[in-house]
Amino acid sequence: MTTRAVVRGVGHYLPEQVIPNSWFESRVDTSDEWIVSRSGIERRHFAAPGETTSHMAIHAAKAALSDAGMRVDQVDTIIVATSTPDLTFPSTATMVQEGLGMEQGYGFDVQAVCAGFVFALANANALIVSGQSKSVLVIGAETFSRILDMEDRATCVLFGDGAGALLLEAAPGDGSSADRGILSTDLNSDGRYREMLYVDGGVSTTGTAGKLRMQGNPLFRQAVEKLAATADTALAKAGLGHDDIDWIVPHQANIRIIQGTAKKLGLSMDNVVVTVQDHGNTSAASIPLALSVGKSRGQIRENDVLVVEAIGGGLAWGAVVLRW
Ligand code: UT7
Repeated sequence: MTTRAVVRGVGHYLPEQVIPNSWFESRVDTSDEWIVSRSGIERRHFAAPGETTSHMAIHAAKAALSDAGMRVDQVDTIIVATSTPDLTFPSTATMVQEGLGMEQGYGFDVQAVCAGFVFALANANALIVSGQSKSVLVIGAETFSRILDMEDRATCVLFGDGAGALLLEAAPGDGSSADRGILSTDLNSDGRYREMLYVDGGVSTTGTAGKLRMQGNPLFRQAVEKLAATADTALAKAGLGHDDIDWIVPHQANIRIIQGTAKKLGLSMDNVVVTVQDHGNTSAASIPLALSVGKSRGQIRENDVLVVEAIGGGLAWGAVVLRW
């Protein structure tokens, strides 16, 4: 008998304000045609003034609880993956805990930028498998609009805000790949690639939040190679192959990265959940947003085998294989 971290519910939240590509045409030297053809992005959501990462995370968490039919007093752990916390401290997770009216358990944040949700899922799985936690809300939430340099056309057109949440609960399994729940995880980072994607400010350097800086093209090339490799490693750990995958749910940074990774894995785009056109790159929020949208579209169903994979600043990258 094995303990598995099984998905009980999923939910998401997007800020009301939708920003079409045309919004940028009057601000920087760009075009809808360039943004769509190079990234696949058509629109993104930006948080309203005063709307914070924790606000969005609380909405997404409530949606996941409602989807699971569970009460907040049945949750013992909250992990929030974010690089755009409300404050330097306390953690966004403790703000979500308070916002949900949760008086038991504990919460903490995970910071692995766009790979944050994959790292948070792997940590949630470890807590459940070790017996430390019985039920974990894993949330990805970001307000990247607040760290964009709106004069840098190479980055400002790519990112958006939002939040997604998954509720995981301990359940018995037989230890085989037929179990529901998380079947394997694979995490990686390499700090030598720091210059490819970083924010040029911070508490112990400038004392400011800073703005996002990215070397898009070299990062693009790293992304396809590393995402396919980590997906393969996670699949091998789960004892599964490409033919067993029902859905790839990738980090939504760029449609061409998503297509390139699917091709390397020998899968058709019919097996990929794509939301990049509507959300842009929402960093740690992009995978739980895609999981939630994929479920509501009727794409993701119980017992489907999913590979979620992401790469971002660090560089940090990884994949999780789960049976929904
Ligand atoms: O979430 C974390 C992971 N993030 C990623 O993985 C992002 C990875 N990178 C990418 O998605 C792509 O590299 C971009 C979408 C950022 C850029 O696409 P690209 O095909 O790699 O374009 P490029 O950077 O090579 O730029 C091509 C041209 C350049 O002009 P020149 O030098 O050829 O004259 C850029 O200056 O496009 C120019 N350009 C733009 N033109 C119009 C850059 N940004 C823009 C823009 N509008 N917004």
